[in-house]
Amino acid sequence: MNHARTSMLLGFGLAAIVGTGIVGCRGERSDKPPRQFFPDMDDAEHFRPQNETEFFADGRSQRPTVPGTVGYGRAPIDHAEAEDAGWGDGFGVQRARLLREDQGLYFGTTDAPPDQAEHYVRDIPVEVTMDMIRLGQEKFDIYCAICHGYEGDGKGTVGNRWAGQIVANFHDPKYSNKDDILGRDGYMYHVGRYGLYDPNGVLRMPGYSHALDENEAWAVVAYIRTLQASRGMSIDDGVIPGAERNRLLEQRGTPVGNADQPASQEQIAEGGEQ
Ligand code: HEC
Repeated sequence: MNHARTSMLLGFGLAAIVGTGIVGCRGERSDKPPRQFFPDMDDAEHFRPQNETEFFADGRSQRPTVPGTVGYGRAPIDHAEAEDAGWGDGFGVQRARLLREDQGLYFGTTDAPPDQAEHYVRDIPVEVTMDMIRLGQEKFDIYCAICHGYEGDGKGTVGNRWAGQIVANFHDPKYSNKDDILGRDGYMYHVGRYGLYDPNGVLRMPGYSHALDENEAWAVVAYIRTLQASRGMSIDDGVIPGAERNRLLEQRGTPVGNADQPASQEQIAEGGEQ
């Protein structure tokens, strides 16, 4: 009994001493070097950012990048592109793109003087696919339709509220004439990404390069071309597949012809034509 009491008191005493020992270090200031349990990497020689050094001739501890260095990871990674590989491959894809020195692809321009049509690439420099047009539709509807209208006629929500037709109507033939600046694919791409300024430098339209990468901006151009083409054709041009053509004719209340045959003259006269 007595023994037990003595050892219990001893136990408490020990615990109190050890406890103060540990807690006592906390929050105290001291000029002595800190206690280090694993003193390995803390003591390695190193430069602090933005500090001076005598080691390099220019006195800077931070080294300038080699001329022509291409930044990694400056834009969000497109995971879809690096789908089959690990996440880090997204950086590789991005870098490969950044390294592609292609003025036409990235800016839609050439070295010709800016007041000449040739300054802008004539045609979309990548292969136009159905997926690309769909992507273009999605992006156009998000970023351009609010002003230019879902049909590209300049009658979007904002376009309508502007007095007069100020927002460009892409169905104006001048936007299809590729011999002129306004009709060039490169011009449309360039305006879409970098905006439009009048000769006095006043902004006429904001650019969307923060929202549209090169692929997406070319896709938007492809979609605007699709919108233009959709107005310029007749239901009987033979381009619209038979079943779809019948559906359109039915909607208009026009007699439905043989799906595989072009419409007869009667059908055209009755309203088959646009
Ligand atoms: C905030 C409204 C607004 C949005 C959004 C907008 N635009 Fe425009 N856009 C305009 C206006 C206004 C003009 C006419 C400017 C002028 O003629 O001075 C114009 C003109 C244009 C022109 C013709 C330029 C010319 O020289 O005639 C192109 C091409 C164009 N826009 C492309 C786009 C594309 C592509 C998008 C979407 C990525 C877009 N715009 C989004 C307002 C807008």
